[in-house]
Amino acid sequence: MTDTNTPTALAPTNFSKGQRILSGMRPTGWLHLGHYHGVLENWVRLQHDNACFFFVADWHALTTHYEDPRGLAQHTRDMVIDWLAAGLDPEKATLFVQSALPEHAELHVLLSMGTPLSWLERVPTYKDQQEKLREKDLATYGFLGYPLLQSADILLYRADQVPVGADQVSHVELTREVARRFNHLYGREPDAAERLTALLGTLDKETVKKYQRLARKFQEKGDSEALHYGQLLVNQLSGLSDAERERLRSGLDGSGRIILPEPQALLTEASKMPGLDGLKMSKSYGNTISLRESPEQVRDKLKKMPTDPARVRRTDPGNPEHCPVFQLHEVYSSESTRQWVCQGCTTASIGCLECKEPVIQAINDMLIPMRERAEPFEQDPAHLQRILSRGNERARAVAQETLRDVREAMGLIGSWSS
Ligand code: TRP
Ligand code: SF4
Repeated sequence: MTDTNTPTALAPTNFSKGQRILSGMRPTGWLHLGHYHGVLENWVRLQHDNACFFFVADWHALTTHYEDPRGLAQHTRDMVIDWLAAGLDPEKATLFVQSALPEHAELHVLLSMGTPLSWLERVPTYKDQQEKLREKDLATYGFLGYPLLQSADILLYRADQVPVGADQVSHVELTREVARRFNHLYGREPDAAERLTALLGTLDKETVKKYQRLARKFQEKGDSEALHYGQLLVNQLSGLSDAERERLRSGLDGSGRIILPEPQALLTEASKMPGLDGLKMSKSYGNTISLRESPEQVRDKLKKMPTDPARVRRTDPGNPEHCPVFQLHEVYSSESTRQWVCQGCTTASIGCLECKEPVIQAINDMLIPMRERAEPFEQDPAHLQRILSRGNERARAVAQETLRDVREAMGLIGSWSS
């Protein structure tokens, strides 16, 4: 199923496919090979069989860079061009910008009402980042609340899976707790508690004790094994109607109606992409190759790349283990090329420039089509704008649906609300 032939349709037609997937990226401007192998390659693969939502987390950037927001819009454009260059297809995935959708802010504020401060204070990134970015004043409300903003980002689209790096898993965990609490507080019928108590009164005391212990274990500690045993227990009870069984089940997990489903973290393996100096490729180290680098620039950067310091002269043998170029061979070369390198390097039968050649070729073969895809967007900013406007609209359709349910569950329905 595809919506390529109906460019005016607002809602994507691919919702029935696979899983609902959502992820966000802070607008950092031009992306490099580390971003590609670490994140984008994965996004591109996911877009084919799933309903994907990928967005620019520009408000998130403000939580740490509120003092210097200049360049945010330009960084957003540059980054989305790189997404498209890498192969994200706006007909397959919904690409949008967080700040274009105030719905994220509305859900954030509604979730904030019932979120204990301690949940945010104990998110590991809170203290870590404050330590790491000590030159910035991060004792702000926005910074403390940013994982909850992320929860709103995720829950607004009722995502099943959230591709993230290991550093973000705790935020998805928080999101699950927030969803569970929301469903618990607002998903139940008003007299659910009384009905459950009455039903428990008809069961034998041992069973009730067991049931309550398992329910507490799950609701207070998120112990999913306890939930599983609780469900088994409920299934084994005889002489209950379907409605009674259902009541016991929702009493177990603490929720009646699931308004906000709990998402799963889809752990993305950290990219081992080495930079031009052998350290991890990162903008702050100045060791990157960007996705829109020209073939000449790639060649130039690779030529200048340091090699095993033992190879002072062409006739000195080297050791690939001590050479950052070999790390690139590990990413881009076949087994036989790597053998050629090892053999040639340790016997000084090849020169370093010769050794770099297959890597230069491989990177350029990959980047040339990316540059070609980026070009029309560089030429015509309105084209990019149209893609994002459409993505924003498609995202909004989903976000509004969730918010309608959330507002209703929280009692915010009246003649004044549209
Ligand atoms: N916080 C993430 C980061 O700093 C970006 C992000 C924001 C995100 N909202 C998200 C990722 C929702 C996944 C889902 O990298
Ligand atoms: Fe590095 Fe290759 Fe030179 Fe050996 S031959 S030092 S692996 S660039």
